Amino acid sequence: MHIEEIKIENFRNIGFMGIFPHKEINVIYGQNGQGKTNLLEAIWLFTGCKSFRTSKDRELVCFKSENAEISTSFQTSLRENTASIFIDKKRTASLNGVKLSSPRELIGKYYSVVFSPVHLSLIKDGPLNRRKFLDTAISQIDSVYAKKLTYFNHLIGQKNALLKNAAENPSLLDTLDIWDEKIALAGAEVIVERINYIKMLQNKASLIYGGISGETEELKIKYLSNVPYESEEKQDIAEIYFKNMQKHRPNDLYLKNTSSGPHRDDIEILINGISARKFGSQGQQRSASLSLKLGEAEIIKNLKGEHPIILLDDVMSELDHVRQNYILNKMSEKQVFITCCEKETVSRLNAGKVFKIEKGKAVV
Ligand SMILES: Nc1ncnc2c1ncn2[C@@H]1O[C@H](COP(=O)(O)OP(=O)(O)OP(=O)(O)O)[C@@H](O)[C@H]1O
Ligand SMILES: [Mg+2]
Repeated sequence: MHIEEIKIENFRNIGFMGIFPHKEINVIYGQNGQGKTNLLEAIWLFTGCKSFRTSKDRELVCFKSENAEISTSFQTSLRENTASIFIDKKRTASLNGVKLSSPRELIGKYYSVVFSPVHLSLIKDGPLNRRKFLDTAISQIDSVYAKKLTYFNHLIGQKNALLKNAAENPSLLDTLDIWDEKIALAGAEVIVERINYIKMLQNKASLIYGGISGETEELKIKYLSNVPYESEEKQDIAEIYFKNMQKHRPNDLYLKNTSSGPHRDDIEILINGISARKFGSQGQQRSASLSLKLGEAEIIKNLKGEHPIILLDDVMSELDHVRQNYILNKMSEKQVFITCCEKETVSRLNAGKVFKIEKGKAVV
């Protein structure tokens, strides 16, 4: 899929901007603080997800304005579409002239994958960001997954509340087995989806990483669960998970928290067999997180038949020419937006459009 036009009004430092991007490569360059990432952020929002920089919609509206509006026309393999998003205290969206009950209804209608400096934390930081990456990625290809996850989190919240109130009302503890049964089943659903996704991602991301590193290094990813399952069958995982919660119950009662389950899981990322998080160099970590993101895009293409719009914020710095060329050449047939400070960084491109951004405006 690709965007044919995007119009942005009163969004961050962009008063008004209207552009007609190239079908493949678009380079957005300009000095620091001019609005390059803001433009990518606007393009991203049509996924129906929250911004990749903030969860507070209000921050997206220009300081001087009450509300912001972005609209686009985009082409998928099936049809020509229009979408718009209106932001004041909250976000509302419409697609092809029909108002949606939630912007999340855009999920599955418009696909995008973003890689920005915040995504470096995918490798570096704790498991929370890796779980978030995994959950967002699966949600884009499977709208039921988000519901399963919400249901699981809801159950965990309920059980934890029960553990907290049990001191005052011990009879509540009689219902713990019932909660654990429900949690085990709901948790197994989440774990199975994540295991399957990680398998697909391992295939795609390891190929990409091999290419980026000139086949000198190998990337491996594994789902790391604290539920010690032996088979990958949902029912088996649920049984083991139930037993695991029973085993941890004394401790959970003491801490008033559920310690076992997919809400505590992680992804293990290995480069040449050693932890990328603990031992990877800066360049290796950047290449690995980029490979995960580009792998995510390949999975969307395979399952949905649409190339997602790829947003690459500041990736070029720190990468040598071999790595830069690899990334750029891998991008054919996809619409890509790349931001950088120097126009020269991507001067090797012979096709595409270049936009210079200055004080929130596209100047040529
Ligand atoms: N809600 C807002 N209203 C007005 N201006 C805003 C708002 N949010 C952010 N800005 C401004 O937008 C600018 C940052 O834009 P952006 O992050 O897109 O810069 P950039 O061109 O990507 O820069 P860099 O090269 O440093 O990444 C800042 O000057 C910031 O003050
Ligand atoms: Mg930026």
